Amino acid sequence: MTDLGFSRRIKIAPSILAADFANFGAECRAIEAEGADWVHVDVMDGHFVPNITFGPATCAAIRPHIRGVMDVHLMIAPVDPYIEAFARAGADVISAHLEAGPHIHRTLQAIRGAGCKAGLALNPGTGIEDVAYLLDMVDLICVMTVNPGFGGQKFIASQVEKVRRLREMIGDRPIHIEIDGGVDPGTAPLVAEAGADVLVAGSAVFKGGSVANPAPYGENIRAIRAAAEAALR
Ligand code: DX5
Ligand code: ZN
Repeated sequence: MTDLGFSRRIKIAPSILAADFANFGAECRAIEAEGADWVHVDVMDGHFVPNITFGPATCAAIRPHIRGVMDVHLMIAPVDPYIEAFARAGADVISAHLEAGPHIHRTLQAIRGAGCKAGLALNPGTGIEDVAYLLDMVDLICVMTVNPGFGGQKFIASQVEKVRRLREMIGDRPIHIEIDGGVDPGTAPLVAEAGADVLVAGSAVFKGGSVANPAPYGENIRAIRAAAEAALR
């Protein structure tokens, strides 16, 4: 498993939901070559969210094409029966949704027990009160800034205040705050200033580029990073 070596520096995590589904390996290599810090893998089951993407087999297939962190976002319910399979597939981080079942504490224990960093994902309608009792169980908290299921949606601005409060709650604990949905050079500064350090972006990274022409991926990644870092100066 990749050593995350905790740091709050801004990390850009392109979501392969916006990539060419017929070319995932090459797309992962291209975004890393163009500056991606992590690769965000959106797993959807058509039950927890109204969309279906891919599962452990796809994660295992793309693992050899990812040098850095494979950040697996499970938008599935139930979660527990599949944790081992995603860990074996090579996930470095596995995030589960607080809303996916009644026993999130046990789920986070199982993710760490499988040798992965544990992430807790919160839908836009979910408050942070419950997080207070899970801070010793998580390495990352993913704040959804869209309703999960699809890329290309509009950023939900009300979540910026949630990020700020979460950052206060976390204090100096080594817990990443990840933002997922509608991140682009316009919204990245808002969440970076509020305390986020991992910025997931699908459409804002992949737009205009392709495996054959990856330069736009690098331009898009640099634009998001620059906008976020400018907000921290
Ligand atoms: C949505 C996914 C997000 C999404 C982000 O359910 O969790 O990661 O792919 O896509 P954009 O950046 O296009 O909003
Ligand atoms: Zn995601």
